[in-house]
Parts: sequence; C-alpha cells; structure tokens
Amino acid sequence: RSQVKFQNQLPIPATINATGGGRFEMQVTQFEQDLGLRDVSGQPLLTTVWGYNGQYPGPTLVAKKDVPVEVFWHNKLTIDGTAEGSPLPHLLPIDESIHWAMEHVENWEQYGVPIVTHLHGGHTESASDGLPEAWFTPDFRKVGEDFVKGDNEPYHYANDQEAATLWYHDHTLGITRLNVYAGMAGFYILTDDHEQQLKATNNLPADPYDIGLAIQDRMFTADGQLYYPALPEVPGAAYPSVLPEFFGNIILVNGKAWPVLDVEPRQYRFRMLNGSDSRFYNLFMSVPLNFVQIGSDNGLLPAPVVQNQLLIAPGERKDVVIDFSNPALWGKTIIIRNNGKSPYPKGAAPDPNAEGQIMAFSVSKPLNTTYPLTSVSGNLRASALFDHDTPAKTRQLLLFEGMDEYGRLKAMLGTIENGALEYVDPITENPDLNATEVWEIYNTTPDAHPIHLHLVTFQVLNSQKFSVDFDDPDDGTISKVRLIGQPKAPEPGQDGRKDTYPIAPGEVTRLVAKFDRPGLYAWHCHILSHEDHEMMRPYYVGNMPD
Ligand code: C2O
Ligand code: CU
Repeated sequence: RSQVKFQNQLPIPATINATGGGRFEMQVTQFEQDLGLRDVSGQPLLTTVWGYNGQYPGPTLVAKKDVPVEVFWHNKLTIDGTAEGSPLPHLLPIDESIHWAMEHVENWEQYGVPIVTHLHGGHTESASDGLPEAWFTPDFRKVGEDFVKGDNEPYHYANDQEAATLWYHDHTLGITRLNVYAGMAGFYILTDDHEQQLKATNNLPADPYDIGLAIQDRMFTADGQLYYPALPEVPGAAYPSVLPEFFGNIILVNGKAWPVLDVEPRQYRFRMLNGSDSRFYNLFMSVPLNFVQIGSDNGLLPAPVVQNQLLIAPGERKDVVIDFSNPALWGKTIIIRNNGKSPYPKGAAPDPNAEGQIMAFSVSKPLNTTYPLTSVSGNLRASALFDHDTPAKTRQLLLFEGMDEYGRLKAMLGTIENGALEYVDPITENPDLNATEVWEIYNTTPDAHPIHLHLVTFQVLNSQKFSVDFDDPDDGTISKVRLIGQPKAPEPGQDGRKDTYPIAPGEVTRLVAKFDRPGLYAWHCHILSHEDHEMMRPYYVGNMPD
C-alpha cells in the first residue's frame, strides 16, 4: 500500500434536515467505502466499515433549537443487512476479559454485536441518552440492563439547548473504542434563530461554507482493512487485550485519508471534532494563518478568539473561522499540521510525515459571488454564556491510574473520599434534580484526560496544581491533598460552553454545571481506550430507585 496525501477531496457527509422536527431512521450496517487508500499500483482499496445509513461518517443530522426530533437507531449488523438476518462477527478484536456488554452472555456471537448511540453534548432525557448498558443486538435478541426503551422505540431529542456542534457515536460498554473505530460516528448540528441571524447578516459563514471536520487516526492492513492492535503489553494477559491507548499513523478527515479541500478566497467556518480514540491534536497551519475560534463544544463564544494553534482533545469540538481571502494565499496549498504529543502532554512527538499532517486547503476556486462575503467580529452571543445558581454542593473527584488483575494499566475515576471506583461500584454522584454543583476533578495520573459529563453543559472555573499523599497507591485512597500556588483561569476559548475538558496531570480542574434532568447518566474519560477499561462512572440525578 502506498499513500498519497492531499489528492482526495474532503468528503462532506450527506445531511438530514431535521429542523422541522419529525422521525428519522438510522440504520447501522456493514459496507465497503473508499477511505482514500491506494495500492502500490495506485488503485483504490476499499475498506469494510460500519456506519449509519451506508456512510462513514454517518449523515449529519441538522436540528433546530426547541424543535424535537425522534430517531430510530437500528442495529442491522447482519450478513444481509436486515435486523433479522444472521449476525456479523465484530470487525475488530474484542477483549472479553474486561467489563463489557456481553460479559455474562454465553456464546454471545450467536446474538450479534451490541450497539447503542449516544448524542454527545445533547441535553437528553436519560432513556434516550444512549448509556453504555443501554445496548441492543440485531432484532433485540439481547439488550443491556439500562435498555429502557421498548424494542423499535425512537430516541427523543428535545433540542432544548442553544446552537452547537454535537456529534453522535456508539457507546457500548467495553467496545465503544471498537465500534467507533469501525465507523460509528457522525455530526449532529443544532442551530437556532440567533445563529441564523448571524448568518443572515453575514457575520458567520453559511452553507456551503460551514463544514464539519471529523478528525480520526487509524491503522490499516496492507490490503486496506482497519487494523486495531490488541497484543497485550504485559505477559499473562490474554489476546485480544485492551491497551492503554491507541495512536494511528493515518489521519482521516470525514473518512478520507489526508484529504484536500479546494476553497474560495473567503471565510469558511469549520466545526472541528476530535473523534479519535486517544490522540490529542495540536493544530497549526503551514503558512501564517490563524484559526479564529468562534465556538466551543456547546455553543458560540462571546467574541472570536484568534489562535495560531488549536489544541483539541478526544471528544472536544472547536468551531473556527479560517479566512483564505488574503491574495498572498491565492493559488497556494495550506496544510493543517499537528504537533500534539502522544500520550498528551509528555509523550512522543508525531511523525511530521504521517500523523503530523491532517489535511490541506487549496486556495484554487474562483470566488462565487452569489454568496456574500462574511466578516466575523464582535459579539457572537444573544445571551450570557452562563447563568448559574449558587452551587448547592462541591464534589471532590479523582482521576487515578491503577492496575487490573493482569497487571495492565487501568485508568479510573473515583472520589477523594473513597479512592478509585469501577463502573459497577455504587453511585457516588447523586445531584438533586435542578441542583447546580461544582465538581473538582483531581488528576493524579501522568497524562491529560478529556473528561466528559453527559447531560450538562459546564463552565470551567479554574485549574490549580496540587500534590497528594496516597493511603494506598493501589486503590487510590488518599490521606492528604495539598493545593499548590494559585488557581488559573481556563485558556481563551476553553472558557465557553463545554461538555468535555482535558484535565492536565497534577492539576485539579473545577467546573460548574446544573443537573436539570432526572435519572441515570455517565461521566467518563473520552480517551475511548480508557472509557472502555473502567475510566467511566454512572451518576444519577434526583431520587434514586432502591
Ligand atoms: Cu462522546 Cu459518553 O461520550
Ligand atoms: Cu483517560
């Protein structure tokens, strides 16, 4: 296999217009797609992938604030692509020694691969949240213990939140990394009147200059099939084994290896999504050109923030405007490069000829004057960024690096009071319905972890260094925490509406959120290899059933 760069055009996933509400069908099937890989003679290699409605990434659902949408998510991972058909095996090696969906199902293969879809960033009712134990196999032959919708019932999305770049992806317990790697992810763009107004007054680029960029790293076999490493790093652990992280050397954007986008000399809006397993990207451009950040995970920023580099952790979205109008750029090819270390922030630098490059822009198209030029400036918001009540409670939570029974690295969550906890341990985070709370999350590990809370939009208050004395360094119980120095405010752009935030090693990050829907949710690290191996906890809003 040889790999050309910047010759395949960036794919733009088909959109489903759900701005008028209604019911939509999403079918998960297996199919082949050209991901831009070429064999030695230059012929396209097709890759077997999983995706929604026959495409990877899945179709972009476009919804509107306060217009509810219902989605039927169908599991048709079967040989003939019907729910009733005979189930397909997984495309990738499953570690059956970890806590995973089919752990207690004998001969699970006969039932097929479990899936469940989570709308990341959605202010979603618990029953439609797509929780890790709400999975189901084709034809609902087996379902997880948190599968509370009936068979073939749609998920309900109220869309009662402001315009934002959300995304949907698989969330099945213990195999999220594999299902997402196989292709189960797509954009969910929420718009509102205020954003439409900004477009109408040419303060923001509108269609077709408003484009999602889903960045994902992958590895492939010589014949172009997805490769996911699973050889244990410690002797004695069985194959296939979950690994501490995954870093691929081929970068896909919207499902194409190192694509190029031909652009006009004008402003474009790019909704960047890091949909990778473990890789943090620190993006910069090959010519002096800035990312003008206009939005974070869950909404627009108060004002544009000019950045010459853009750090984006797994699960995060950064909404930026790039301006190609400067005549010095015309006819040029501009490359988005990456120098983010893996693991972040202290690991290895990327290979500048592989994962050190993301995609290119070729400023080669004539200006289409039927679309007005835009100029991003000034106030982007109609309302305050946040309007919090006085916090009812402050929780002290823990990020901890432990070991499993095979001696494999196992990153976990927990509390300062109890030490490290597993997903099955009793719920420790139980906010009252409509309570506002501060969560202080102490990262005692050597790596940054992008922590994601379901349901809520949070504000990052500050971060501060600390040191810790462990009672028992094996179970993460703590005898003393000492804060060091002064708290520091989040970086510009990270002070906006967030649902995922990378917590630096040796720091506590304090965030505030309002928990305003009842029921079961989850919080977890968005490094998928961590979330699949216990770096995830349930939480419950309101009165817990016995
Ligand atoms: Cu994007 Cu719980 O995940
Ligand atoms: Cu992590």
